[in-house]
Amino acid sequence: MSVTKAAARFSKAHNTEAEGVWAAPGRVNLIGEHTDYNDGFVLPFALEQSTWVAAGRRDDGVLLVESLQAEEPVRFDVGSLAPGGSGGWARYAAGVVWAMQQAGHEVGGLSLVIDGQVPLGSGLSSSAALECAVGVAVDSLYALGLERAELARLAQKAENDFVGAPTGGMDQMASMLCTQGHALFLDNRTREVEQVPLDAPALGVRLLVIDTKVSHAHETGGYRERREQCEQAAREIGVPMLRDVDLDGLQAALEKVSTEVARRRAKHIVTENARVLDTVAALRRDDLAEVGRLMVASHVSLRDDFEVSSPELDVAVDAAMAAGAVGARMTGGGFGGCAIALVRDTEVDAVGAAVTKAFTAAGYAEPGLLPAAPSQGARREA
Ligand code: GLA
Repeated sequence: MSVTKAAARFSKAHNTEAEGVWAAPGRVNLIGEHTDYNDGFVLPFALEQSTWVAAGRRDDGVLLVESLQAEEPVRFDVGSLAPGGSGGWARYAAGVVWAMQQAGHEVGGLSLVIDGQVPLGSGLSSSAALECAVGVAVDSLYALGLERAELARLAQKAENDFVGAPTGGMDQMASMLCTQGHALFLDNRTREVEQVPLDAPALGVRLLVIDTKVSHAHETGGYRERREQCEQAAREIGVPMLRDVDLDGLQAALEKVSTEVARRRAKHIVTENARVLDTVAALRRDDLAEVGRLMVASHVSLRDDFEVSSPELDVAVDAAMAAGAVGARMTGGGFGGCAIALVRDTEVDAVGAAVTKAFTAAGYAEPGLLPAAPSQGARREA
């Protein structure tokens, strides 16, 4: 058990018990991709896989972060945290403390022992899981009394401004606010959330995450470029954000966009927002065939218009659909990472086998198959 492992390592390293153990999950997005930084809609759910943090305060102003998955502890001075420094993976933890300080909260020294069980670099938000687990731990230990949504905002600030990855707000909101048996319908403009029941077994289906084992990094390259292209399109259309364009106004809006690439990016965002709303409506009436159709349409749009899929993701989706999945799409930022398939529970093995076979035939590494059930968001565990 990760909770006991993190706590045991803490007491061994610090000769005293941790004051508590907190956890926050990774997430997978059912639909609504690259919409979050356009003020749009998303529909993620939390994974069972989480990151655990055994934590205790210290009175010497040191932030000491160690991980069961890393060799060396990383030491920061709480009084002089600054963006852009060294510290590797531990910057995601330090960034949360920094963001809290920036928001005017008093945070002193801390010892943190991390046990991260969310696969890294797979698009399942291992970074948000780490940030959010640290967020709830520090909030509790220093009695900050922050709301979940505010903790999510600070975790996102850590990632954007301390680590320097220009990601949107979906992952941290999902890790903080998801509940078991539900997907989280999030409006990224108002930050309003609705818990949408997603009890797959009761509906006779399963959610299968397919890890292509091709990793991605959002600090660089394609992700940042997509954001800029969306901003360009919004500017030329004359709206604050692409969220402000709806399907009815799409054609007229696209005519104002000067480049063909930015037009396709904008088309993806506007149609994807509509697909999220349609998916929520379809889930509410248990119309899984429609959910599946929308997932595939999302994938096609991400592949052709937004151009963030990869050959491995396309093979995963195509093989899953050919083997009888109800729906499938890439999930997360893209350029590698995972796909998600909605599969009848009698066909899970057949779909998994078909994807594995297609990967072998294409000469790719064996994919990871991860059955996922909507799980609980950030919490105190001990
Ligand atoms: C990454 C980012 C999210 C979101 C997705 C794409 O996961 O961290 O904020 O933009 O990509 O939907």
